[in-house]
Amino acid sequence: MKKLTKKIAKRLAKKYLFKKNLDPYHFIHTAKVVQAVKIISKDKKVDKNLLEICAWIHDIGYSLDNSPNNDPGHAENSLKLLKNEGYKVTEKIKDCILNHGSKGRPKTKEGKILQIAVKFNIIDKDFLKYLIEEKAGGKEIKFLKKRTSDAVKMLKRLKSLKF
Ligand SMILES: [Fe+2]
Repeated sequence: MKKLTKKIAKRLAKKYLFKKNLDPYHFIHTAKVVQAVKIISKDKKVDKNLLEICAWIHDIGYSLDNSPNNDPGHAENSLKLLKNEGYKVTEKIKDCILNHGSKGRPKTKEGKILQIAVKFNIIDKDFLKYLIEEKAGGKEIKFLKKRTSDAVKMLKRLKSLKF
């Protein structure tokens, strides 16, 4: 069983998310989630290394099924890919990956932070560029509205974290 490192996790994100048929949103999103977990966990006593690893790999499962609304299907697929690659999937990694969606109920501190971070990256220069290049229409605007309201909810949840 191979052990995951941050470097490997980043490599896996590139390997699985830079695919021709895959929406470029996924890699942009993933890189933003990595930045967000670093900021959120800065002053917290959590496993920052594991958090960054999970941030890189949480959505690689989209490379198996790019259909929208397949949560938690893509999260389960992310774990499947890790196992196929021969990496050890610990209980904490499972908690983080499987619960990162809106309906997830993470038990670990790291899982709670990842879930918050996933919703925080909604408007920035790279995402704006993506929206313009992809000629954002009704579908993207609906998504943006949902993500914005999720981000506000997560901001409240972040304030209530007691660690
Ligand atoms: Fe996801």
